[in-house]
Amino acid sequence: MSLANRSLVTIDDLSNGEIEALFSLADEMAKSPDQYAGLCQGKIMASLFFEPSTRTRLSFEAGMLRLGGRVITAVDVGATSLAKGESIADMAKVVGSYADIIVIRHPWEGAARVVANYAGVPVINAGDGSHEHPTQTLCDLYTIRKERKSVKGLRIALWGDLKHGRTVHSLIYALARFGATILFCPGPGLEVPEHVLRRLSTEYKGELKRCRNLDEQPGEKLVPIDAIYLTPNDPHQLAMLPDVSVRVELKAGVDALYVTRLQKERQATTVKEQEMKRGYPRVDEKLLKGREFRRTLVMHPLPRVDELAYDVDADPRSMYFKQAAYGLPVRMALLSLLLGATEVQVPEDKDSFVRRTDYPVYKRDSGVKCPNANCVSNQQTEVRYIRPEFKIVNRQPLTLRCIYCDHELTPRYVASTEWHQGKLENKKYHSADSHFARKIRAENLIVFASAEDARAHHFKPGKYAR
Ligand code: NCD
Repeated sequence: MSLANRSLVTIDDLSNGEIEALFSLADEMAKSPDQYAGLCQGKIMASLFFEPSTRTRLSFEAGMLRLGGRVITAVDVGATSLAKGESIADMAKVVGSYADIIVIRHPWEGAARVVANYAGVPVINAGDGSHEHPTQTLCDLYTIRKERKSVKGLRIALWGDLKHGRTVHSLIYALARFGATILFCPGPGLEVPEHVLRRLSTEYKGELKRCRNLDEQPGEKLVPIDAIYLTPNDPHQLAMLPDVSVRVELKAGVDALYVTRLQKERQATTVKEQEMKRGYPRVDEKLLKGREFRRTLVMHPLPRVDELAYDVDADPRSMYFKQAAYGLPVRMALLSLLLGATEVQVPEDKDSFVRRTDYPVYKRDSGVKCPNANCVSNQQTEVRYIRPEFKIVNRQPLTLRCIYCDHELTPRYVASTEWHQGKLENKKYHSADSHFARKIRAENLIVFASAEDARAHHFKPGKYAR
């Protein structure tokens, strides 16, 4: 099967079977690199890194060079025409006419999606703000698969800045799809964003259980834990849900502990770094002495700061440098597949946890905007051509999900294109939670963020507007 000309913007752009096939190719490439040395000869990769990077950029570039391809690079927005006010779309079109594939890291959420929409060549998201980092997830899954054979049924704890860590967001979706149980262990105030949790519960068939440290005894310090996501593959797990407790969950053991650093560059400027650091959970040899961590793989996307002690490095459970090293064969496999330089046998999708994707789309110009200030659709240089676009992921309450950054909004008022029949006096708006609103077919739906918004679009309050 060919993956030629596809882009990887979110981890959901690859099916489970495709990921397995990519890993088999990565295994081959790691085993006999010489055999693949000329695979991408004559091809050019543009690497655009507008945020700091060591591993991701250098493993992509080294990977392309090892495949016989060549690399052009821009690593500083200030040195590109973006600094002159050029849009990402224009940049994408231009770079797409010079290179055969683009790898982009950008601080705005959804930036990689825009590049993919305009470049005309495959685009790989190497991290877009706090949104996603799908190739890091490939390295993470590859590491787990190497050490434990399969992800299915494993219990994986995600640790640290689960709010801003993009590696964590991509990993969560992948773990759910591959059938793992996820334990969320966030730093204070750094819980997984609601829209990510909601997506877990609406799109995958598992159960989400929120469980603060209710059973912590005074003076006893358990690792922090916020929620547990259980995949539906094991009925025993579901039966256990009603009395789930931190103690029970942790004592049952953890197969992998995925540690992340505090993403200080993504905190609101009002939050003091020292305050954030206080109470940030730290992993060291002492913590790892606990019985629950006896067989735990200690993982980290790196770079580490203070959250992971150096005394863990010599411990055979530490996986993070292996994880970084796997970036090379994994990214070589990805590049060669998207460039169409090689094909793979995709195993029959063992995807029993397939997500829902058939949502109706909302892209009317009715004034609703993505609520995320860091979304590409809200940036001055981009609003000139980007129209906000959403998936209607729920009707009760009416919920729209931004197609660029996945943040959600619940609009207050709605109208239907069917009601006004061309007569201005019939243009009425209603509360989004009224039973009337629920009857509007998705293709006729008009949504408004506020009553003022509806009035500005010449709609008057209807019977069901509160
Ligand atoms: C991560 C990133 O950039 O999101 N680094 C990486 O690519 N391995 C993690 C981080 O910066 O904390």
